[in-house]
Amino acid sequence: MEHERFEQIYKEGNPPWEHGTPDLNLERMLARFRIEPCRALDLGCGMGNNAIWLARAGFRVHGFDLSETAVENAMVRVAAAGVSCDFQVGDFLTDQVDGAPFGLVFDRGCLHCVPEPVDRVRFADNVAEVLDEGGFWLSLMGNADEPEREVGPPRMTARQIAEIVEPRFEILVLEAGLFGGHQDDPPRAWICLLKKR
Ligand SMILES: C[S@@+](CC[C@H](N)C(=O)[O-])C[C@H]1O[C@@H](n2cnc3c(N)ncnc32)[C@H](O)[C@@H]1O
Repeated sequence: MEHERFEQIYKEGNPPWEHGTPDLNLERMLARFRIEPCRALDLGCGMGNNAIWLARAGFRVHGFDLSETAVENAMVRVAAAGVSCDFQVGDFLTDQVDGAPFGLVFDRGCLHCVPEPVDRVRFADNVAEVLDEGGFWLSLMGNADEPEREVGPPRMTARQIAEIVEPRFEILVLEAGLFGGHQDDPPRAWICLLKKR
Protein backbone atom coordinates (compact mmCIF):
# COMPACT_ATOMS: atom_id res chain seq x y z
CA MET A 1 0.00 0.00 0.00
CA GLU A 2 2.80 2.43 0.90
CA HIS A 3 4.58 1.35 -2.26
CA GLU A 4 1.59 2.28 -4.45
CA ARG A 5 1.16 5.56 -2.59
CA PHE A 6 4.77 6.67 -3.17
CA GLU A 7 4.84 5.38 -6.75
CA GLN A 8 1.76 7.46 -7.50
CA ILE A 9 3.27 10.59 -5.92
CA TYR A 10 6.51 10.23 -7.92
CA LYS A 11 4.66 9.40 -11.15
CA GLU A 12 2.53 12.53 -10.76
CA GLY A 13 5.88 14.30 -10.79
CA ASN A 14 5.66 16.86 -8.02
CA PRO A 15 6.47 15.38 -4.60
CA PRO A 16 6.07 18.13 -1.98
CA TRP A 17 9.42 17.29 -0.31
CA GLU A 18 11.39 17.44 -3.57
CA HIS A 19 13.29 20.68 -4.24
CA GLY A 20 16.18 19.48 -6.38
CA THR A 21 18.73 20.35 -3.70
CA PRO A 22 20.38 18.49 -0.81
CA ASP A 23 19.20 19.21 2.72
CA LEU A 24 21.58 21.69 4.34
CA ASN A 25 21.27 19.89 7.68
CA LEU A 26 23.21 16.99 6.20
CA GLU A 27 26.31 19.05 5.47
CA ARG A 28 26.04 20.94 8.79
CA MET A 29 25.76 17.85 10.95
CA LEU A 30 28.54 15.93 9.20
CA ALA A 31 30.84 18.93 9.62
CA ARG A 32 29.81 19.52 13.26
CA PHE A 33 30.54 15.91 14.26
CA ARG A 34 33.47 15.50 11.87
CA ILE A 35 31.92 12.42 10.26
CA GLU A 36 34.44 11.34 7.67
CA PRO A 37 33.61 9.83 4.27
CA CYS A 38 32.63 6.18 4.62
CA ARG A 39 30.10 3.77 3.21
CA ALA A 40 26.72 5.54 3.50
CA LEU A 41 23.13 4.43 3.10
CA ASP A 42 20.67 7.08 1.89
CA LEU A 43 17.51 5.47 3.20
CA GLY A 44 14.37 6.55 1.35
CA CYS A 45 16.68 8.35 -1.08
CA GLY A 46 13.90 9.68 -3.28
CA MET A 47 15.27 11.41 -6.37
CA GLY A 48 18.87 11.39 -5.17
CA ASN A 49 19.68 14.98 -4.16
CA ASN A 50 21.32 13.95 -0.90
CA ALA A 51 22.97 10.87 -2.42
CA ILE A 52 24.67 13.14 -4.97
CA TRP A 53 25.84 15.51 -2.24
CA LEU A 54 27.25 12.61 -0.22
CA ALA A 55 29.04 11.14 -3.25
CA ARG A 56 30.57 14.54 -4.04
CA ALA A 57 31.76 14.72 -0.43
CA GLY A 58 33.57 11.41 -0.87
CA PHE A 59 31.07 8.94 0.63
CA ARG A 60 30.41 5.61 -1.10
CA VAL A 61 26.66 5.81 -1.38
CA HIS A 62 23.96 3.20 -1.55
CA GLY A 63 20.54 4.74 -2.23
CA PHE A 64 17.52 2.68 -1.19
CA ASP A 65 13.87 3.47 -1.83
CA LEU A 66 10.44 1.87 -2.08
CA SER A 67 9.65 3.63 -5.34
CA GLU A 68 11.02 2.45 -8.69
CA THR A 69 10.18 5.79 -10.23
CA ALA A 70 12.14 7.69 -7.58
CA VAL A 71 15.16 5.43 -8.07
CA GLU A 72 15.01 5.75 -11.88
CA ASN A 73 15.01 9.52 -11.48
CA ALA A 74 17.86 9.35 -8.99
CA MET A 75 19.97 7.27 -11.40
CA VAL A 76 19.47 9.81 -14.18
CA ARG A 77 20.46 12.67 -11.87
CA VAL A 78 23.50 10.82 -10.57
CA ALA A 79 24.69 10.16 -14.12
CA ALA A 80 24.12 13.82 -15.06
CA ALA A 81 26.07 14.91 -11.96
CA GLY A 82 29.00 12.68 -12.98
CA VAL A 83 29.19 10.91 -9.63
CA SER A 84 28.84 7.27 -8.69
CA CYS A 85 26.20 5.74 -6.37
CA ASP A 86 24.52 2.32 -6.16
CA PHE A 87 20.76 2.12 -5.94
CA GLN A 88 18.28 -0.49 -4.82
CA VAL A 89 14.50 -0.61 -4.86
CA GLY A 90 13.05 -2.23 -1.75
CA ASP A 91 11.02 -1.97 1.41
CA PHE A 92 13.31 -1.29 4.36
CA LEU A 93 10.88 -2.99 6.71
CA THR A 94 11.06 -6.33 4.93
CA ASP A 95 13.91 -6.45 2.41
CA GLN A 96 17.63 -7.06 2.83
CA VAL A 97 19.79 -4.04 2.06
CA ASP A 98 22.78 -4.71 -0.19
CA GLY A 99 26.21 -3.47 0.76
CA ALA A 100 25.95 -3.38 4.56
CA PRO A 101 27.54 -2.56 6.93
CA PHE A 102 27.52 1.22 6.64
CA GLY A 103 29.27 3.85 8.70
CA LEU A 104 26.43 6.32 8.14
CA VAL A 105 22.71 5.97 7.56
CA PHE A 106 20.95 9.15 6.47
CA ASP A 107 17.21 9.40 6.24
CA ARG A 108 15.40 12.55 5.33
CA GLY A 109 11.76 11.89 5.93
CA CYS A 110 11.79 8.10 5.60
CA LEU A 111 11.24 7.02 9.21
CA HIS A 112 8.50 9.58 9.72
CA CYS A 113 6.58 8.11 6.74
CA VAL A 114 6.22 4.76 8.50
CA PRO A 115 2.73 4.92 10.03
CA GLU A 116 2.64 2.16 12.66
CA PRO A 117 4.62 2.53 15.94
CA VAL A 118 5.60 -1.15 15.88
CA ASP A 119 7.02 -0.72 12.37
CA ARG A 120 8.95 2.37 13.43
CA VAL A 121 10.68 0.31 16.11
CA ARG A 122 11.41 -2.38 13.51
CA PHE A 123 12.79 0.35 11.24
CA ALA A 124 15.18 1.48 14.00
CA ASP A 125 16.22 -2.12 14.68
CA ASN A 126 16.92 -2.59 10.97
CA VAL A 127 19.03 0.58 10.90
CA ALA A 128 21.07 -0.84 13.79
CA GLU A 129 21.48 -4.10 11.85
CA VAL A 130 22.97 -2.40 8.78
CA LEU A 131 25.29 -0.06 10.73
CA ASP A 132 28.86 -0.68 11.81
CA GLU A 133 29.50 -0.69 15.56
CA GLY A 134 29.54 2.98 16.58
CA GLY A 135 28.04 3.99 13.22
CA PHE A 136 25.87 7.10 12.87
CA TRP A 137 22.23 7.54 11.90
CA LEU A 138 21.18 11.05 10.93
CA SER A 139 17.41 11.31 10.68
CA LEU A 140 15.35 14.35 9.71
CA MET A 141 11.72 14.10 10.77
CA GLY A 142 8.64 16.29 10.89
CA ASN A 143 8.25 18.11 14.21
CA ALA A 144 4.94 17.96 16.10
CA ASP A 145 5.63 21.34 17.73
CA GLU A 146 4.51 22.88 14.45
CA PRO A 147 0.76 22.89 13.76
CA GLU A 148 -0.31 20.46 11.09
CA ARG A 149 -0.05 21.86 7.55
CA GLU A 150 -2.41 21.15 4.70
CA VAL A 151 0.58 19.72 2.82
CA GLY A 152 3.44 18.90 5.16
CA PRO A 153 5.50 16.10 6.67
CA PRO A 154 4.17 13.62 9.23
CA ARG A 155 4.96 15.12 12.64
CA MET A 156 6.62 13.40 15.56
CA THR A 157 7.24 14.26 19.21
CA ALA A 158 10.60 14.01 20.94
CA ARG A 159 9.12 11.36 23.21
CA GLN A 160 8.04 9.23 20.25
CA ILE A 161 11.53 9.45 18.77
CA ALA A 162 13.21 8.45 22.04
CA GLU A 163 10.86 5.49 22.40
CA ILE A 164 11.67 4.32 18.87
CA VAL A 165 15.46 4.53 19.06
CA GLU A 166 16.06 3.30 22.62
CA PRO A 167 17.85 1.07 23.51
CA ARG A 168 19.76 0.50 20.28
CA PHE A 169 21.04 4.07 19.87
CA GLU A 170 22.68 6.81 21.90
CA ILE A 171 21.02 10.16 21.14
CA LEU A 172 23.81 12.63 20.35
CA VAL A 173 21.54 15.39 19.03
CA LEU A 174 17.79 15.86 19.09
CA GLU A 175 17.14 19.46 18.21
CA ALA A 176 14.38 21.44 16.59
CA GLY A 177 15.20 23.06 13.26
CA LEU A 178 13.86 23.40 9.75
CA PHE A 179 14.00 21.10 6.75
CA GLY A 180 16.92 22.69 4.99
CA GLY A 181 16.38 22.91 1.28
CA HIS A 182 15.98 26.22 -0.46
CA GLN A 183 12.20 26.46 -0.35
CA ASP A 184 10.28 29.35 1.22
CA ASP A 185 8.68 28.59 4.57
CA PRO A 186 10.28 25.16 5.16
CA PRO A 187 8.50 22.82 7.56
CA ARG A 188 9.78 22.45 11.10
CA ALA A 189 11.98 19.39 11.59
CA TRP A 190 13.66 17.27 14.19
CA ILE A 191 17.36 16.93 13.47
CA CYS A 192 18.39 13.75 15.18
CA LEU A 193 21.89 12.28 15.23
CA LEU A 194 22.17 8.82 16.73
CA LYS A 195 25.10 6.55 17.41
CA LYS A 196 24.74 2.78 17.47
CA ARG A 197 25.43 1.40 20.93
C1 LIG B 1 9.38 12.18 2.32
S1 LIG B 1 10.14 11.23 1.07
C2 LIG B 1 11.80 11.86 1.15
C3 LIG B 1 12.66 11.47 -0.04
C4 LIG B 1 14.10 11.94 0.03
N1 LIG B 1 14.78 11.47 1.22
C5 LIG B 1 14.17 13.45 -0.04
O1 LIG B 1 14.57 14.05 0.95
O2 LIG B 1 13.86 14.00 -1.09
C6 LIG B 1 10.26 9.63 1.83
C7 LIG B 1 10.89 8.59 0.93
O3 LIG B 1 10.97 7.36 1.67
C8 LIG B 1 10.58 6.30 0.83
N2 LIG B 1 10.07 5.22 1.71
C9 LIG B 1 8.97 5.27 2.51
N3 LIG B 1 8.83 4.13 3.18
C10 LIG B 1 9.87 3.33 2.80
C11 LIG B 1 10.26 2.00 3.13
N4 LIG B 1 9.56 1.24 3.97
N5 LIG B 1 11.38 1.49 2.55
C12 LIG B 1 12.10 2.23 1.69
N6 LIG B 1 11.77 3.50 1.33
C13 LIG B 1 10.66 4.03 1.89
C14 LIG B 1 9.52 6.88 -0.10
O4 LIG B 1 9.37 6.17 -1.30
C15 LIG B 1 10.07 8.30 -0.31
O5 LIG B 1 10.92 8.38 -1.43
